[in-house]
Amino acid sequence: DKALSAFDVASPPHPMILTQDELKRIAAYKAVEFVESGMVLGLGTGSTAKHAVDRIGELLRQGKLENIVGIPTSKKTQEQALSLGIPLSDLDAHPVIDLSIDGADEVDPYLNLVKGRGGSLLREKMIEGASKKFVVIVDESKMVKHIGGSKLALPVEIVPFCWKFTAEKLRSLLEGYGCEANLRLGEKGKPFVTDNGNYIVDMHLEEDMGDLGAVSDAILRLPGVVEHGMFLDMASTVIIAGELGVKIKNK
Ligand code: 5RP
Repeated sequence: DKALSAFDVASPPHPMILTQDELKRIAAYKAVEFVESGMVLGLGTGSTAKHAVDRIGELLRQGKLENIVGIPTSKKTQEQALSLGIPLSDLDAHPVIDLSIDGADEVDPYLNLVKGRGGSLLREKMIEGASKKFVVIVDESKMVKHIGGSKLALPVEIVPFCWKFTAEKLRSLLEGYGCEANLRLGEKGKPFVTDNGNYIVDMHLEEDMGDLGAVSDAILRLPGVVEHGMFLDMASTVIIAGELGVKIKNK
């Protein structure tokens, strides 16, 4: 495997030029080293988590892992895991998960995350919040000083009922941070619908949010809001793959 064997050299004399997807795969494979037979696993969603799910399927097929139960964080991951023969269950049957592995859109120095650009933030937060260990896998482009700042959007899942009303409440709540609230659109310009039948509003902020806990609480208090994509104090470990090697940050 080209990318991995090249990367096994801890400090290559000349940095390798790897694609972003190769870096994602390196981080994902590293995380799967934490997986042991008999574990209940939270299976993340997105292009990075997909590599981890593929790897778990491969190790099961090779008999190097046994008795794994996967709890998928989206319908898409559920389909992928089923196609790989990974036995699946849910949070009702397994309210405590040994280990979850998932990607993120942004990671700050304190391991706070923004997630949900793939639209699966609610199930991800439920499953990863129920995990004894939550390992986040990213390429180095995801590392930021402050989450939810100017770079990208903070996704908020809301109920479809009078979504304009809720989007406007969100916009005015975060107005002080120079905020725009855009309904996420999917195919044919129709609203993107989550696995839970809800919509997503992407909050574009010009300023850092400062007290993330206070902003999180305020967003969650708004009627119509189901969940937001700030994952505060949830990650146990972040695995960051970059051109110069893999860094592992623990909480
Ligand atoms: C999906 C997520 C993803 O983990 C996040 O968007 C990162 O995706 P990718 O690995 O494709 O960069 O939160 O809801």
